[in-house]
Amino acid sequence: MDKEGKRIVLHGAEGFEALRKAGRLAAETLDYITPFVTPGVSTGRLDKLIEEFQRDRGGIPATLGYHGYPACSCISPNHVVNHGIPSDDKKLVEGDIVNIDVTVILDGWYGDSSRMYFVGEKIGVKARKLVDLTWRCMMAGIAQAKPGNHLGDIGHAIQTMAEAARCSVVRDFGGHGIGQVFHDAPHVDHFGKPGTGVELRPGMVFTVEPMINAGRHEVKILSDGWTTVTRDRSLSAQFEHQIGITEDGCEIFTLSPAGYTQPPYGSAA
Ligand code: MF3
Ligand code: CO
Ligand code: CO
Repeated sequence: MDKEGKRIVLHGAEGFEALRKAGRLAAETLDYITPFVTPGVSTGRLDKLIEEFQRDRGGIPATLGYHGYPACSCISPNHVVNHGIPSDDKKLVEGDIVNIDVTVILDGWYGDSSRMYFVGEKIGVKARKLVDLTWRCMMAGIAQAKPGNHLGDIGHAIQTMAEAARCSVVRDFGGHGIGQVFHDAPHVDHFGKPGTGVELRPGMVFTVEPMINAGRHEVKILSDGWTTVTRDRSLSAQFEHQIGITEDGCEIFTLSPAGYTQPPYGSAA
């Protein structure tokens, strides 16, 4: 049971196998889109490419129509925290940092992952540092994901790392259980106290998807009902992996088959 008394599904070997496939397709989608993220591309075009890639492989874009959401991905540049709606009118420009978040349904199972991308090569020092910090925060959280630890250990690791760098953790959104349901129990805060919250058990599957702001943690949702931005207009970054708790730690279902971790991807640098 989670904090609200909702049941947390424990997945067995067959569930893990199905989630491995769904997670891999999500990760492949993020690999595939990488070379298209260049100055001048519209986020609507990226969304079309994502939809095509997933459908060609038997996947269904999970966000399309989800609570009325109108697209196959969330594309969130710069001070957009999450749920940026792709549009043919929204062109990325040199120096942008952007999160692309994809969720795919494969044979009824969900795969959910997001990464940051650099648009062009002239990325400011503060933006680079924020992206690197956010990736390390996610991985520090995942390092706490093992049986006997608690959700609060994950949140605490993320919060400690973010705040040591004088950045802040978004409070209003968190990770989530996921399996044959998109957003399931438990809710996963990216802040917290060690030893608090749900105790982790083998078979639990959830996302770790910290949103880290360069400024203050407060956010607001724009009038489209989706796009979330930082209240102080500071930059925000996010990475997302989907993991399953195993007997001795966790398995990351959404690792990049191309070996991508954080940007710049596939460069010698
Ligand atoms: N993929 C997002 C997540 O990580 C959810 C997007 S829901 C949408 O949970 F409706 F905004 F697309
Ligand atoms: Co998610
Ligand atoms: Co996501």
